[in-house]
Amino acid sequence: MLRHVLSTAQFTKEELEKLFIEASKMQKSIEEKRFLNLMDGKIMATLFFEPSTRTRFSFETAMLRLGGKVVSNADMMSTSSMRKMETLYDTGKTVSQMVDVIVMRHFEPGSVAELAKGSDVPVMNAGDGIGGHPTQGLLDVYTIWKEFGKLDGLRIGFTGDIKNSRVIHSQLEILKQYDCEFVFVSAKELCLDDETRMELKEKNVSFSETENLDDVIGEVDVLSTSRLQKERFANPDDCEKFRGLMTVDKAMLAKAKEKMIVLNPLPRVDEITLDIDSDPRAKHFEQVKNGVAIRMALLKWIFEL
Ligand code: NCD
Repeated sequence: MLRHVLSTAQFTKEELEKLFIEASKMQKSIEEKRFLNLMDGKIMATLFFEPSTRTRFSFETAMLRLGGKVVSNADMMSTSSMRKMETLYDTGKTVSQMVDVIVMRHFEPGSVAELAKGSDVPVMNAGDGIGGHPTQGLLDVYTIWKEFGKLDGLRIGFTGDIKNSRVIHSQLEILKQYDCEFVFVSAKELCLDDETRMELKEKNVSFSETENLDDVIGEVDVLSTSRLQKERFANPDDCEKFRGLMTVDKAMLAKAKEKMIVLNPLPRVDEITLDIDSDPRAKHFEQVKNGVAIRMALLKWIFEL
C-alpha cells in the first residue's frame, strides 16, 4: 500500500504525535543547516496547477534538506500535456515512472486523489481547490502543539473566509479528534458550511458561531485567520463587502490573552496587518519555518524510514 498524503483525516492521534515529534527533530537539523541523507537516490516531482509561493518551495526545500532531488513544474496549467487533454490518471501514471514521490496542487477538489489512482508512487496533496490542504493543516496544528505542548483543553477561534478556506477545513479534521472548543467568527455567508457543521455536531464537538471578533478575541488560546478566498467566489467582486470586517491588527490583539497565538497560512491581504508582525503571538512566519520541518517528517513517514 502506497502511503499517499491526501487528507488530514487519514492520520490517527498516535500518528500525529509521532509526526510532531519527528518534525521537532527535523527542525534541529534545519537550524544547524545540515543536509540529511534519508532521501538519497530519491526524486520528488512537484506539479502545480494553481499559484503557490510557500507550499512549493517548502516541499522542495524539505526534499533537498533530506538529501533528495527535485523536478518541478510550477505552471502545469499552461505547459503540461493537460493542454493536449491528458487525464490526471495518465499524468500520475507517467510521472510516477520517473520519480519516487509526487506533490500536486490543483484547483479541483478530488483532483489529487484522481492523479494518485494512476500513480505508482506516493502522492502528496498540496491543496485541491476548496477540498483540503493537509500539509498546511498539519503544520498549523504542529505550531499550536509546539506552543502549548498539547492540543486538549484549548479554545480555538477561526476567522475570515471559513467556508472557502481549505486550510481551516484541514485544521478542523485534525483538531476535532482532540478535546478542543471551537469558536467560528465570520459573516453568516462565510461561516461554517452545512456539511462541516453537521460533522461537528455528530462528533459532539463543542462549538459556537458569532459575527463579532471583538466578543471572542479575549477568550481564545488560538486564533486561526484566513484571507477572503476571492478566487473561490462565483463572482469575485462579491467578496469586497466582507473586506476589513475581521481584521486582526495591533488594536485587536491588545484585547487578546497574553498567552495566545494568531495563525495565518499566508498570503495575507488585510486580515492580519503588518503592525502585528513583531508581536510574539503572531506566528505566520514561524509557520513557514515549521512547514519545512513537517514536510520533512511526512516524507520520512511516506517511505517508512
Ligand atoms: C493557502 C492556500 O493555498 O490554501 N496558502 C498556503 O498554502 N500557504 C492559503 C490561502 O491561499 O489563503
